[in-house]
Amino acid sequence: MNEFYNSIYDDKDYESFLNNLIKYFNLDLKGYKQHRLRRRIDILLKKYNLKSYNEYFEMLKKNPEKWNEFLDKLTINVTEFFRNPEKWEFLKNEILKDLIKENNGKLKAWSAGCSTGEEPYTLAIILHELGSLNKADIIATDFDSGALEKAIKGIYSEKSLVNLSKEMKDKYFINLGDSTYQIKDFIKHSVLFKRMNLLYDTFDKNFDLIVCRNVVIYFDNEAKERLYKNFFESLKPGGVLFVGSTERIFNYKDIGFSSIAPFFYKKEKNESGNTFVERK
Ligand SMILES: C[S@@+](CC[C@H](N)C(=O)[O-])C[C@H]1O[C@@H](n2cnc3c(N)ncnc32)[C@H](O)[C@@H]1O
Repeated sequence: MNEFYNSIYDDKDYESFLNNLIKYFNLDLKGYKQHRLRRRIDILLKKYNLKSYNEYFEMLKKNPEKWNEFLDKLTINVTEFFRNPEKWEFLKNEILKDLIKENNGKLKAWSAGCSTGEEPYTLAIILHELGSLNKADIIATDFDSGALEKAIKGIYSEKSLVNLSKEMKDKYFINLGDSTYQIKDFIKHSVLFKRMNLLYDTFDKNFDLIVCRNVVIYFDNEAKERLYKNFFESLKPGGVLFVGSTERIFNYKDIGFSSIAPFFYKKEKNESGNTFVERK
């Protein structure tokens, strides 16, 4: 099927497995790097001694725990509050303070691929710390409706909160006992969750900040390039794109961005408010 990985399972069966995921679970993995994806799926087939992807699909249909395992093993949903804390610190001190000042306190932000909500809620917490939450619009999208349901409930295990001090936990969460925590309503209600596929759907415009982290790991280069171009179009001049810690954009200048720091890209504005492409 490709130069990197030869599966012992049938290629046609794999194709129909991908089609079934779309039809039944609304999960479209077709634009993804198939060698990585298939290697991980094959490990699960071996684990359950299955002979075909179709058998595995039947198992996923019947058993929600197996479905969650599938998403987990593909690291499709893995997330936590303040993931890579030093990057959020940088966002807060070096980027958000200025963006907010330039916008008279307002901010329109998008967490693209928000999974179970930890990322947009992290952003809401930071904006609250900066005194700007009540003037912020935070939109959070994902194509996994199960993840969005969890996000809307806002209940998390201790594991998701490892990067938070006791003081921060007390300030922003209700301790429900049994090591579970619920995000407080004033944070929860500041985020609008929507279902959206980043590969196919049309994007909203005029964002000051787009956060898209740890989402593109299975995207092929063409899909990534298209996505970053679309993000560029969706940002306001002066807006910033914040990507994951292994997701440096090498051709950022071709797209029109300048690089503020590793993993932060800016759509610059010139004096007349138009964008320009930074040249070497
Ligand atoms: C590993 S999680 C990352 C969550 C969060 N951004 C973070 O960094 O902690 C990746 C998320 O991207 C979502 N995702 C993957 N491909 C997507 C697509 N084409 N459209 C929308 N969401 C997608 C997955 O459903 C998953 O919730």
